[in-house]
Amino acid sequence: MSHESALVATTPHSLINAPRIPDSWNHKHLLGLEHLTASEITLILDFAEFLHKATSNGRTKLDLLKGRTVANLFFENSTRTKNSFSLAAKRLGADTVEFSSSGSSVAKGETFIDTAKTIEAMLVDAVVVRHSSPGTPHMLSNHLACSVINAGDGPHEHPTQGLLDILTIRQHLGSLSGLTIALVGDIAHSRTARSNIWGLLKLGAKVIVCGPATLVSKNWEKLGVEVSYSLDKILPRCDVLNLLRIQFERQAIRPFPSVHEYTLLYAMNQERIRRSKPEILIMAPGPINRGVELTPEVADGPHSVILEQVTNGIAIRMATLWLLLNGRT
Ligand code: NCD
Repeated sequence: MSHESALVATTPHSLINAPRIPDSWNHKHLLGLEHLTASEITLILDFAEFLHKATSNGRTKLDLLKGRTVANLFFENSTRTKNSFSLAAKRLGADTVEFSSSGSSVAKGETFIDTAKTIEAMLVDAVVVRHSSPGTPHMLSNHLACSVINAGDGPHEHPTQGLLDILTIRQHLGSLSGLTIALVGDIAHSRTARSNIWGLLKLGAKVIVCGPATLVSKNWEKLGVEVSYSLDKILPRCDVLNLLRIQFERQAIRPFPSVHEYTLLYAMNQERIRRSKPEILIMAPGPINRGVELTPEVADGPHSVILEQVTNGIAIRMATLWLLLNGRT
């Protein structure tokens, strides 16, 4: 079958033999990883791998969500998350509504809740929401009848990013239990950090948060993670480094004297790769600032799985949509 015809072919639901969703799974929304159990996280990862294979590695469509509609409600910029949710919905046969705050009636004074209710009135089954205010998806889940998925609420959580990061680690290194994973950089402003921490700890990994003291508070220890201010000290112990972007747009004051100083202390470069474990995995949620969190050689080098993370994002979002919408009308 040619690539083009494969893309339009749709496999009927009855033919794919999807695994049964356990009765214990009763979630309507995905608001964060904080309140999921280890087995619920593992269930989503397993479904993601199943759906990736069932869509011929993302090349064919299924009709699992035929007749359903998924709305993307994005009040912040996005390349990966928005397009990935959209593709995930389409690969399961759903229709999509794409909303961006720029160019919408928000500019005419419409409130956030009115906007969300308007989109829901177009008979959508799930709303995927990204907003700069922490708690926005939680508030929406109290106002809307449909499923709500958190695609990033300020610096709070970004559950599907945490899940796709964990899936990528599992594919390369197997069980998460006993692995040492460092989240490096702007921990203070990172929703990816929080979702990774909840998910990784539940699956038995050791988590280190590392960066300048202005971006990594000692209080993080209360969550059960190790706090470090020296990448060079922790480097030889790490199986995975997840390099988090310096979120200049969320910082009221600059947290270090210069970007140059940050890169000297925390950027992953070839010299630091040589001092790492031979199988070190280099990850980043993206977008990356080349030359700030990591050098181009490392970003494009053999240890980097940054683009695999993007591919896994579609699988995780297919699994999320299927698990939340299955059986709902
Ligand atoms: C992250 C986000 O938006 O929180 N990106 C993403 O979703 N892939 C991280 C970031 O913006 O740095």
